[in-house]
Amino acid sequence: MKTAIVLAAFGSRRENAMNSLEHITKRVQEAYPDVPVRVAYTSKTIRGHMKKAGEEVDSVPMALDNLLAEGVTHVAIQSLHLIPGTEFHELLSLANEQTLKDDGFNRVEVGFPLVAGEAGVEMIADTILSITPEGKETNDAVLFMGHGTKHDGNIYYEILHRAFQKRDRTIHMGAMEAEPGIDTIIKRFQKDGVKKAYLLPFLFGTGWHAARDMVGDDETSWKSRLEQAGIECEAILKGAGEYDRLVDIWLKHLDDAMKRMAKC
Ligand code: CO
Repeated sequence: MKTAIVLAAFGSRRENAMNSLEHITKRVQEAYPDVPVRVAYTSKTIRGHMKKAGEEVDSVPMALDNLLAEGVTHVAIQSLHLIPGTEFHELLSLANEQTLKDDGFNRVEVGFPLVAGEAGVEMIADTILSITPEGKETNDAVLFMGHGTKHDGNIYYEILHRAFQKRDRTIHMGAMEAEPGIDTIIKRFQKDGVKKAYLLPFLFGTGWHAARDMVGDDETSWKSRLEQAGIECEAILKGAGEYDRLVDIWLKHLDDAMKRMAKC
C-alpha cells in the first residue's frame, strides 16, 4: 500500500490567495510527514489563465495520473472548498470512476469540504463565530461574503446564516453569486439600524473575488454598496484557509478519509 494526498483547491492566480493554500499545505504536511502531498486546482478557467502565463498547475485528474504512474495505490483527495457544491460533487464522481477502473487505484477517498453537510453546521457556526472581530459595538454587524452557487449546495449559506442568527442577531452570511445577496443584506441592515459592518470573506483565500467583489473600488463591490447605503464598512481580508481553527476542521475531514482508506 502506497498512499498519497491530493489537496483540491478551486485555485487562484493572485499572490494574496496563496497564504491560505500555503498555510493548509504546511499543516497537512506536518500531520502526514511520510505521505506525499500534491496540490491541484479544480477550476479549469484558472488553470487556463495560468497556462497562458507559463505557470502550470495540475487538475485533479492530472495529479491522480501522475501518482498512479509513481505506483501510488491509495489516494485521499481533500476538498478545500467551503460547501458541498459543484466542485465537491465532481470530486465524488471522479473518485468513483478512478476506483472502478481496472488499472486504477485500489482506493480513492474524498474528504468533505469545510461544511460537510447539515450535521456539521452547528459546530462550524460556532467556529466561524470564534473568528469574528473583537471590539464590535452592539449595533455593528458582521457580514461574511460567501461565493454562492447555482448548485443546490447554496442552501448551506442560508443554513449557516440561520445558525449565526440563532446565536447572535448581528452576524450574517451572504452570497456573492446567489441569495442572500447584497441587496437582501442591505435591506436587513437598514431595518436593523446597522451603522457599521465588518466585512469578511467566507472564501478559501483572498483572491480575485475578495479584491474585486468584496472590497474593490468599483461601485458594485460589497464595500461600495454598503457605503452607498450609509453603512461604514471595515473589511478583514483573511481567507478561511488562514485560520487554524477552520483548517482544523478540514484536517479532521482528511483524517476521516485517511482512516476510511486504511480499512480493508
Ligand atoms: Co467565482
